[in-house]
Amino acid sequence: VIASFVPKSLAGRKVLITAGPTFEPIDPVRGITNLSSGKMGYAIARAAREAGADVLLISGPTSLAAPYGVQRIDVLTARDMHAAVMARVAGQDAFIAVAAVADWRVANASEQKLKKDANGGMPALRFEQNPDILASVAALANKPYCVGFAAESENLLEYGRIKRERKGIPLLVGNIGPQTFGSDRNELVLFDEHGHVALPAADKHHLARQLITEIARRLPA
Ligand code: CTP
Ligand code: CA
Repeated sequence: VIASFVPKSLAGRKVLITAGPTFEPIDPVRGITNLSSGKMGYAIARAAREAGADVLLISGPTSLAAPYGVQRIDVLTARDMHAAVMARVAGQDAFIAVAAVADWRVANASEQKLKKDANGGMPALRFEQNPDILASVAALANKPYCVGFAAESENLLEYGRIKRERKGIPLLVGNIGPQTFGSDRNELVLFDEHGHVALPAADKHHLARQLITEIARRLPA
């Protein structure tokens, strides 16, 4: 069939993707996480694979199966995800940071399960900031083409433009969250050096294919 002679847009390319939430322990049985389902990141991994890429997916805890042909590495915390990404980023053509990475971890996580205080006292959690994985990759001398995601609850057009510049990345994908978390549909706005373009509300798999087309067009040869 004629279609089989059309070269795939990411043939011969290596793509690294983060997806899902991270989980930051409070004690051995409790922790702090967020509502990311991983659906958007997994859909992008699948679309990249279908476009011919060699795809490595570094995933926080989700209930999803790895898409066909995609290699997955499971991580729990933001620091685990950071280490896994930095260990494998060399030689990647693109890095797509879709994960909802916890901005803070519990600095005084307990080795043992915390017990309720008979006097009604509450545990005093202290927080410290997690490493910024996307910023770490974008700061590398030999960096891949970096794509960030941003879920904003307001002012998406302004925050998206500012966040792309602050992160020092060529492409930032915004959506108005958190109502898209867990949903099968989404609506995206792509920010690049020329401005922004909207991808209207659609199924996440459809949007993922459109986004992969946009990334493939922008990848340096
Ligand atoms: N990101 C990351 N590591 C972090 C935090 C965020 O790699 N520790 C990535 C996300 O995967 C996403 C992008 O950075 O691609 C933007 O994440 P976002 O949470 O919107 O940005 P922040 O810089 O954390 O700003 P804020 O949460 O304050 O809006
Ligand atoms: Ca954040």
